[in-house]
Amino acid sequence: MSEPGFRSKFKDTDVAVTFRDLILLPGWTEVEPNQVELSTQVTLNHSLNMPFVASPMDTVTESEMAIAVARLGALGVLHRNCTAEEEVEMAKKVKRAESLVIKDVITIRPTETVEYATELMQRHNISGLPVVEGETLVGIVTGRDVRFADSSLLTKDVMTKKVITAPDDTNIESAKEILHKHRVEKLPLIDKEGRLKGLMTIKDILLRGRFPNAARDENGQLLCGAAVSPFDLKRAKKLSEIADILVIDVSHFHNANVFSATKKILEEVDADVVVGSIGTYKAAEDAITKLEGIAGFRVGIGSGSICTTMESTKAGSPTVYATAQVADAVRTYGSKIPIIADGGIRGPGDAAVAMSLGASTVMMGNLFARCKEAPGTLITIGGRYYKQYRGMGSPSAMAKRFSMDRYAQPSKGLPEGVEGWVPYKGEVGVVIQEMSAGLQASMGYAGAKTIPELWEKAHLAAITHSGAEEARPHDVLLPSDSPERV
Ligand code: XMP
Repeated sequence: MSEPGFRSKFKDTDVAVTFRDLILLPGWTEVEPNQVELSTQVTLNHSLNMPFVASPMDTVTESEMAIAVARLGALGVLHRNCTAEEEVEMAKKVKRAESLVIKDVITIRPTETVEYATELMQRHNISGLPVVEGETLVGIVTGRDVRFADSSLLTKDVMTKKVITAPDDTNIESAKEILHKHRVEKLPLIDKEGRLKGLMTIKDILLRGRFPNAARDENGQLLCGAAVSPFDLKRAKKLSEIADILVIDVSHFHNANVFSATKKILEEVDADVVVGSIGTYKAAEDAITKLEGIAGFRVGIGSGSICTTMESTKAGSPTVYATAQVADAVRTYGSKIPIIADGGIRGPGDAAVAMSLGASTVMMGNLFARCKEAPGTLITIGGRYYKQYRGMGSPSAMAKRFSMDRYAQPSKGLPEGVEGWVPYKGEVGVVIQEMSAGLQASMGYAGAKTIPELWEKAHLAAITHSGAEEARPHDVLLPSDSPERV
C-alpha cells in the first residue's frame, strides 16, 4: 500500500495570509504621490479612472450609488436581490443619468393630454419631451408649457411648434453654440427627413464638464455593472442590453453547475462578463481553460466584513491570498483578465496590498455602505449616525429570494453573513477621495507610478500579531470620535 497522503494535507500547507498579516515595504522612489496615476482596467474592455468598485449588495449599490461612483471615475455593480424588472429599471436609470446624445428619447404624441405629458415628465424626472408624429418631430413640450395649463388640453395645444433642431451628427461644441445662441436647454437631433434621431441637453453638457473623471461608455453614458445569477440567463440577456458589465454573482464559482450555466451566458451576451467569486489558482486555471470570453475575475472568498462563511464552514480564501493565486494563474496562461480583489478592504493600505499582488481594482461593501448614496437606512445610536449594512447571505437578505442561490440556502440551510451598522460617512466622494489619496501615498512609498508598475515593484513583508498592534496608534488616549474607535 502506498504511503497515506493525509499528513501532507497540512504538512506543506500554504499560509493563507490576510490584509492584517502584510505590510508594504518602502522602496526606492522617484514618484511623488500626486504624480501617481490610478487609472486601470476593470474588465478587458472597460477602464476606470479610480480603481474602486461598489459591491452588488442591497445596502450598498442601487442606481444612486452607481451614478455617484461612476461620476467620480469608479464603478458600481447593481445588486440582484430584487426582481429582474427592478434591476433593469436601476440599470436604465444609471445609463440615462447622463449621455452625450440620448438615443432612446422619451417622446409624446401631439394628441396625448397635458395631464399625461406632466405624468411622463415626473415619472422620468425630465423637464421636457419632443413631440412626434410617427418618427417625425413636430414640436417640443416642456415643464413650463404644462405647469399652469388645463390638464385636459392636448399636447399639440401647448407645445412649441418652431423647434430649434440640429443634424444628427452634431458635435458637442456646435451643440453648445446652438443652445447658447437660442437660449434653449434641449436640442433634438433630426435626419434629413425630419425624423427624431436623438437629443442633446444642456444638463448633460454641463455634467460632462463637472465630472471630467467620470467612467463613461463611448456614448458618454455612465458605466454600469449589474450582478446576475449564473442560472438566470433571461435576466442576464435583458441586463446585457443596458449594462456594460455583468458580474456572475455566486459565492463559489468553481462549481460544475455554475461553470456550465456561465458558459451559456458567455455565449449569449454582449456585455463584458466578470466571473466569481474565486479564490484559488486552480479555479482561475479552470476558468481560463474551460470558459471562453471571461472579461474579469472577482476574487476573494470569506474576507468580507459581514461574512461568516469561513467561521461557520472553515471554507474560504482570504482576499490577499486569493488575489496572488489568481494573478499567478492569469500570468502563467498569458491572459490579461483583470482582477477585482473583493472583501475585507478597510482602507487605502489594504487596496495597495491587493494591488501589489496583481489586482487591478478593489471591490468594497463596508466602506461604501457608510455613505449617503447607499440604500441602507440611516439610524442614530448613542447620538451618532450609522447606516444599516448586511451580508447578502445574512438571514434577512436571504429572506428575499434572489440571495438564495448565491449562498445556496436550500441545500445548506446556513446563513453566511450578518447584519449590522457602519458609521455614517456622508457623501461617497469623501470615501473615494480618502481612498485615492491614501493609495497614491502607498504607491509613492513603493515607487510605482501606475498600478501595473506596482505589480512589478511592490515588495511585501509579513508582520507579527504584535507588529500589527504597533502599526496602529498606541500608548495614547484617543478622542472618542477617532476613526480608530470604529
Ligand atoms: P466588505 O469587507 O467590503 O466585503 O464588507 C464586501 C464583500 O463581502 C462579500 N459578501 C459576503 N460574503 N457572506 C459572505 O461570506 C455574505 O453574506 C456576504 N455578503 C457579501 C461580497 O463579496 C462583497 O463584495
